[in-house]
Amino acid sequence: MKTTSAALLALTAGSASAQFFVLYGRDTVVSRIDPIISPGGIGMHAHEFMGAGNIDQNSDYDSLQKSTCSSVGRANGNPIIEDKSAYWHPTLYVKANNGTYLRVPTNGHQIYYINAGTGQMREPFEFPKGFRMTAGNAYIRAAQEHTPTNKDDITQWICHQSPSWNQGTQGGFPKGVTSCSQYPYFNGAIEFPHCWNGKDFNLNSPYSHVAYPVGDIRNGACPDTHPIRLPHLFMENNYDLSSLEGQFEVDSFVLSNGDPTGYGFHADFFNGWQEGVLPDLLSGSNACDSHDVGDCSGVTFDSSMNWAQCTTTNNFSEDLDGPLSALPGCNAITTVNPAPQCKACAVGVVGGQCNAPSSMTTSTKKASSTFKTTTKAASSTMQTWQTTTTTTRTVTSTTTQQSTTTVTSDAPKSTDCDY
Ligand SMILES: *[C@@H]1O[C@H](CO)[C@@H](O)[C@H](O)[C@H]1NC(C)=O
Ligand SMILES: *[C@@H]1O[C@H](CO)[C@@H](O)[C@H](O)[C@H]1NC(C)=O
Repeated sequence: MKTTSAALLALTAGSASAQFFVLYGRDTVVSRIDPIISPGGIGMHAHEFMGAGNIDQNSDYDSLQKSTCSSVGRANGNPIIEDKSAYWHPTLYVKANNGTYLRVPTNGHQIYYINAGTGQMREPFEFPKGFRMTAGNAYIRAAQEHTPTNKDDITQWICHQSPSWNQGTQGGFPKGVTSCSQYPYFNGAIEFPHCWNGKDFNLNSPYSHVAYPVGDIRNGACPDTHPIRLPHLFMENNYDLSSLEGQFEVDSFVLSNGDPTGYGFHADFFNGWQEGVLPDLLSGSNACDSHDVGDCSGVTFDSSMNWAQCTTTNNFSEDLDGPLSALPGCNAITTVNPAPQCKACAVGVVGGQCNAPSSMTTSTKKASSTFKTTTKAASSTMQTWQTTTTTTRTVTSTTTQQSTTTVTSDAPKSTDCDY
């Protein structure tokens, strides 16, 4: 690899007329919440958040709109005004020489918005109000088949060591990495799906309403099941491995979801754009075409502050930085594929053992109405794991949501977290 990212590759080598822009930024908070997967309470594993400065476990479109700032914006450091979206991804840990786990701090993010692919553009060309999605899958531990001809193209890990010497590629963690001192550092990146079913945001099954294009993950055609094309998102997270150089065992990377391979990297997007802004930025004759959103017209910035100042507190107070004896929550480090899914264990639990369940039950506090969903494999997506997963969720009262997931795999059997 000699270029800095797949995004740059695609944008320079691909269609010359791609309309796109890039947001830059920092974290708002590190917390074990997940307003999409575990709304209303503690989540399963730790995440780093970007975007709206008021993110919490209850966030939705209306609450995000009330944020007074965003931790992303133009390259010079000023927050964007019109985007109060929230973005998040798992934290990365390394094992210190004495066996403890240290969180690798992040020192920047790049979020690409690209008008890519073929399929019926959503009119207007923006995410619907309330839209949210997850890219990738926390439970996979190996290369996934995105299409019959295209593997490993969802995630990418690249260690940037000099302008011309990089280690890593699409897929999982590269081996032998000790320091990545060149911007954008140890870069964990992920492509989001952009083909929508045109119907819902699937609050209770955050994968099935969107799909990847067939063929090229950006420029391919949307499948018939998900014909509506939304803006394409590509997120890069810069992990500051150099700050821990010499303090950790080589090849000890592990994501907060217990993944030592890197394939289980994932990311979440909760739309918080002011309506009517994205269509101007990404379509039409004045659409943006720049690596800096600061060059785009139709969008404004808060020049009184730097995005790094837009932070919030982790209300579920626990040590997510380390040195830790084990990962926060119940996240056994495992290469079992798919990995077991276990409870969103209580605040303060570290190293709770989630023995691989054949079935398990989780509860969250989200009020909702009764629903039942069955997830089936979308033949054109990379989510082949879904062929072995059936999800049934039933809301039993106005305050308690029970969800039961049955994983029919060869995973060892257990039912709970040990804490
Ligand atoms: C283990 O190593 C980490 C990182 O060098 C250090 O911060 C921590 O104090 C050490 N812990 C023990 C118990 O020696
Ligand atoms: C988080 O804590 C802050 C400060 O104590 C408080 O203002 C806020 O309401 C809390 N948010 C949630 C969602 O609990």
